[in-house]
Amino acid sequence: VEHLLGIKYLKSSDIDIIFKTADHFKEVINRPIKKVPSLRDITIANLFFENSTRTKLSFELAEKRLSADVINFSASQSSVKKGETLIDTVNNILAMKVDIVVMRHASVGSGVFLSRHVDAKIINAGDGTHEHPTQALLDSYSIREKLGNVKGKKIVIIGDILHSRVALSNIFALQLQGAKVKVCGPTTLIPKYISSLGVEVENNLKKALEWCDVANVLRVQHERMDIKYFPSTREYTQLFGINQEILDNLGKKIVIMHPGPINRGVEITSDVADSNDSIILNQVENGVAVRMAVIYLLAQQVKR
Ligand code: CP
Repeated sequence: VEHLLGIKYLKSSDIDIIFKTADHFKEVINRPIKKVPSLRDITIANLFFENSTRTKLSFELAEKRLSADVINFSASQSSVKKGETLIDTVNNILAMKVDIVVMRHASVGSGVFLSRHVDAKIINAGDGTHEHPTQALLDSYSIREKLGNVKGKKIVIIGDILHSRVALSNIFALQLQGAKVKVCGPTTLIPKYISSLGVEVENNLKKALEWCDVANVLRVQHERMDIKYFPSTREYTQLFGINQEILDNLGKKIVIMHPGPINRGVEITSDVADSNDSIILNQVENGVAVRMAVIYLLAQQVKR
C-alpha cells in the first residue's frame, strides 16, 4: 500500500502487519526512553483543515517518538483564510521537502485527490463523512488487546452512522478481520446503503446491547447535519443514550468504546464512560502505537 487513504484499500494481511508493528512500538513507548531513531531523516507535515484534539496530538507524538521532523498546520491560522487552494497550500509545504503528509479535511475523497497531485505519502486523518482509517485501526487494536481477538466478536456501532467516518472505517476494518457488525441509531441517522455493506440495522438499543460483545458509541455530529435529520437531544438520549442502569439490566458485561469527543450525558453517561468496562482511554493510548506503525511502514517506501 502506497498511502493510507482508507480501510477499503487494505487487505486483512495489511492490518496484521500494522498490528504486529504496533505491538513492538507499544512496548517501546512503555520503556523509560520512549523514542527510537527510525525516522531521523523523514519530514512529516500534519495538515488539519478541521478541528482535532486526539488525532492531531497522537500523530504528532507518534512522529516525534519515531524521531521524524514534524511541522504542523492548522487551516484556521493559515493563508487558506486568504483564499489559497488546497493544492497550492500542500505544494508550498512540499517545496520545503516533506516526505509524508497527514491530512484531515472536510471534503470526502480529499486524501485520494491529494495522492494524485502531490509526490508524498498521504495518510488520511479523516475526510469529511467518509473514512478515518487510523481511528478504525486503533479501535480494532484495542478490541484485540481487550478480548484477545477481533475475529468472531460481535460489535455494535451506536449513534449517528450517517455522518460518521469512524463508523464506515470501523465497518470495513471489523469485517476484514472477521467480526460481526451491527449498527443502532435513529432511522434518520442510518445511511440507506448500510445493508449493501452486509451490516444489519437494529433500531432497539436494548436488543443491540444484548446481542453484542462490544458497543462503540458515537457522538451525534450536529456540525455536519441539517436539523431535519435529528430527533431532539432529549429524545436521542431517551432512546439511544447508554447509562449504567441499561448495562446492569443486560445480565452480562460488554466492552464500551467511544472515539471521542464525548458529549457526556447525551450519548453516554459519565459513570459508563469512566467505568471499568470502558476502554475509551486505552483507545487513545493505543492510537500512538498504531500511528507509529502506520507512519513507520509507509516511511519504508520513501525514496532517500
Ligand atoms: N477521534 C477523533 O478523531 O478525535 P479528534 O476529532 O479529537 O481528533
